[in-house]
Amino acid sequence: MCVSVDNASEECDPEWMDAEDPLFVLYTSGSTGKPKGVLHTIAGYLLYTSLTFKYVFDHHQDDVYWCTADIGWITGHSYITYGPLANGATSVLFEGIPVYPHVGRFWEIIEKYRVSKFYTAPTAIRLLMKYGIEPLQKYDLSSLRVLGTVGEPINPEAWMWYHDAVGQGRCPVVDTFWQTETGGHVLTPLPAATPLKPGSATLPFFGVLPIILNEHGEELEGEAEGYLVFKKPWPGIMRGVYGNQECFENTYFKKFPGFYVTGDGCRRDKDGYYWITGRIDDMLNVSGHLLSTAEVEAALTEHSAVAEAAVVSRPHIVKGECLYCFVTLKDFREFNHSLMDELKRKVREKIGPIATPDFIQNAPGLPKTRSGKIMRRVLRQIARNEKDLGDLSTLADPKVVEVLLSQRCEAAA
Ligand code: PRX
Repeated sequence: MCVSVDNASEECDPEWMDAEDPLFVLYTSGSTGKPKGVLHTIAGYLLYTSLTFKYVFDHHQDDVYWCTADIGWITGHSYITYGPLANGATSVLFEGIPVYPHVGRFWEIIEKYRVSKFYTAPTAIRLLMKYGIEPLQKYDLSSLRVLGTVGEPINPEAWMWYHDAVGQGRCPVVDTFWQTETGGHVLTPLPAATPLKPGSATLPFFGVLPIILNEHGEELEGEAEGYLVFKKPWPGIMRGVYGNQECFENTYFKKFPGFYVTGDGCRRDKDGYYWITGRIDDMLNVSGHLLSTAEVEAALTEHSAVAEAAVVSRPHIVKGECLYCFVTLKDFREFNHSLMDELKRKVREKIGPIATPDFIQNAPGLPKTRSGKIMRRVLRQIARNEKDLGDLSTLADPKVVEVLLSQRCEAAA
């Protein structure tokens, strides 16, 4: 049936739902390489995104709010769509990148719409920082009140620049730690109420109980570093992995029974502040997007020339982390630039542009233990150009390491 817009009714009755009915499923990378469908439900998610939006951005009716995230990712779901709409907020919606058509694009939009609450990612801040303060000075940023960041640990230098140059020293920076799975902010300052420390997501949101555990699952008190877990659920926590209850239990509740495991490492300082130290599983965080090494390896080995691949992370000045790939080719295949381009294209097609490898190194052999397990620690050290590779005695063939070291990629491919 075709209904023209002119004849369509202006009434649209809401569909009444149960509080625990599914709201949406959002796929996120899993450490085994298979994406997991994170399931959120109607009432808890809506309540939680609505409440965190209100308090974390100190929302007022005359605010103009702008979150630069992609609407298809969880930040866009929670803090472009559900949280702001539930509060009746005035929002700027933006489709584009920070440096096109010019590097002052963000600042121009803030001036144009008098944005008061601005939410972006450390990778965007680090990118814009490279252009200095000149592009900022061309615009009036006096409308800004609160600055938010999300997606990955923010280095103190980028935090200071955000605070001093963008916020002109008068806007609190809310470093919000959360995950697709948590639905909304779980560790975060509240603007003007929480004393800030550059690089720390500070303290838990209302009702959230973070705990730090050691390898044996023992709870650590006071100043400590270990696994970040949560002791009690909150309204916005995921309700399951769509269609796979077993994966849900194994991924989040098995390692430390009785706790929700975030997969992140964390330090608590003497003031009780939390500092996220990064992922502790085989996951990478590229520009705020989680990728599993296994899914990139699977994409690479789909290429007919590749026999085996191992992917590790390497620090990157703008993206936080980037992909360094070691590939072992099948016999008689030649490693050259056109093959590198094909491999990059393969990964882009299978996963997306965000996963494009920065480094691809030819690896005639990979460092393996006698039982055939790839020693990723050694690959990570080679990728990072660390001089001391530590104990290599468990390797089946230590010579492999010398060859890899002699062929290290210095510059991005
Ligand atoms: O490692 C943490 C990092 O991003 C992961 C969650 O990624 P994703 O589910 O894609 O959601 C991203 C947007 C919420 C976390 O496990 N992460 C997110 N925010 C921060 C962070 N790491 C440090 N500080 C943050 N503020």
